[in-house]
Amino acid sequence: MVKVANGMVNVMGAVFAEGSWVKVRGFRRTPFYAEQSEASLLVEGNNYRVVDGSTIPGSWLEAAEKTAAEEKGVVMVVGEADSGKTSLATFLVNYYLNFQAEIGIVDSDPGQNDLGVPGTVSGGVVNKGLSDLSQVKPEVMEFVGFTAPESGVEELKEAVATVLRRLREKGVGKIVLNTDGWADSKGLSFKAELTRTVKPSFVLSLLDGEKTLAFTMAVDPSTRMIRVEKSRYVKRRNRLHRRTLRTLNYRRHFARPRLVKKPLNENVFLNHPFLKGEPVQTLGGLGELGFEALETRQYMDTLYVKIKDEVEEPVMLNLGGKRIVVLGEGWEKGLLVGLGRNSRIIGVGIIESLSGNEVAVKTPLTTGFDTIKLGEIKLDSYFNEKNFYWRPSRHRV
Ligand SMILES: Nc1ncnc2c1ncn2[C@@H]1O[C@H](COP(=O)(O)OP(=O)(O)OP(=O)(O)O)[C@@H](O)[C@H]1O
Ligand SMILES: [Mg+2]
Repeated sequence: MVKVANGMVNVMGAVFAEGSWVKVRGFRRTPFYAEQSEASLLVEGNNYRVVDGSTIPGSWLEAAEKTAAEEKGVVMVVGEADSGKTSLATFLVNYYLNFQAEIGIVDSDPGQNDLGVPGTVSGGVVNKGLSDLSQVKPEVMEFVGFTAPESGVEELKEAVATVLRRLREKGVGKIVLNTDGWADSKGLSFKAELTRTVKPSFVLSLLDGEKTLAFTMAVDPSTRMIRVEKSRYVKRRNRLHRRTLRTLNYRRHFARPRLVKKPLNENVFLNHPFLKGEPVQTLGGLGELGFEALETRQYMDTLYVKIKDEVEEPVMLNLGGKRIVVLGEGWEKGLLVGLGRNSRIIGVGIIESLSGNEVAVKTPLTTGFDTIKLGEIKLDSYFNEKNFYWRPSRHRV
C-alpha cells in the first residue's frame, strides 16, 4: 500500500490527493507522478525507485486525445505479453472519465484477467479514476473455461461479443477492450478476426513496427489503427510470475466461498458428456487396455468412457476410428465452472463433488444459479491450476 502523505499524484492518468491510499498489486509496477507540485508518499516496504519525468509515453496521451471525442464505440488495445496493454487500458479509461461520467472496460484475456477470474471474459463500468484495473467489479462475464486463448478462438470471440453487448444493454457507450498477449502470426490473425467481430472505432497497437504492419494488413482497411510506444519502464514477467498471479487471482475471487448443493436434473449442466451424452454399448477392446468401463456415452461425436480408477489427465484414444476420451470416477472434482441463471453466466465456482443425484459447488456467488458450465481448468485446494482438457479438440495444446 502507498499513502499520499501530502500534495497530489497522478497514477496512470488518475489523480490521487493527500490522504489517499493506493494498493499496488504483486508483480506489478505502479508509477506515482508528482504532476503539479511537490508530493510525498508513504510506501510500505522499500521496493520503489524514483525516476525523472512521467513513465507514460507521449504517444499514449496523443492517442487518448484522438480517441476521446467519440462518446460511443470500442477502443481496442493490442500488444504482446508484458507490453503495457493493461496499463494503457487503465490510462485510457482514466482519460475518458475526464469527458464522460462512466466508461466500460472489458478484459478479454482468459489468462491474465485483471477484472475477473481466469477462464472468463469480464466487463465492468468505471465512474471514478482508478490506479489498477483489478479495482473494477466484473458486472458481466462470460465463461470460456480455459486460460490459453489459442484453445478456443471461436468461443473467445463469442464471449467478447456477448460481454460487449451486455455492457451496452446497461447503457454504457464508450468501452475500452483489453486483449491477451498472444501475438505470433496465429495470435495476430485471431486479433484480426476479433476486430471483425467487435468492429472497434479505434485499435491502439503496442506491437512493434513489423507486427503492427502485419496486423494492419490482416484487418479491414477501414480499421482506424493508432500505433503507440511501449513504456521504457515496462516490466516483464516470467511463466512462474504469471502462474502465481493467476493463483492469487483465484484466491481473491474465492476468498469468501460458500458450498451450494444442487439436486441433479438433466438441465443443470450445459455441457457434461455423461449427463448430456447418449448411452451406448461399452466398447470391446477397452478391457484389453486394462480399463474397466463403468459407463460409455456418445457426446459431441466423441465416446466418453468412465472407468473405476482415478486418472490424472483425460486419456485420449482412437479405437477402430472412434475418438474416445477416458475419464476416471469423480473426474469433475476441482473443475472450475461457470454458473448461470436465465441462460446468462453470473459467476464461477469449483466442483467439490458430483454423485448420482447431487452436485456440490464452492462459489463466492451469493445469489442462486440454475445452470453449470464445465471448464477445463482444475484447481487444487491451494488454487494451483492445471489444464484438464476433456474435450478432444483442445488436447493438442
Ligand atoms: N507506462 C508505464 N509506466 C510504468 N510501468 C508500466 C507502464 N507500462 C507498463 N508498466 C509495467 O510493466 C508491467 C507490464 O505491464 P502491463 O501489465 O500493463 O502489461 P500487459 O501487456 O497487460 O501484460 P499481460 O500480457 O500480462 O497482460 C507492469 O508491472 C506495469 O506496471
Ligand atoms: Mg494485461
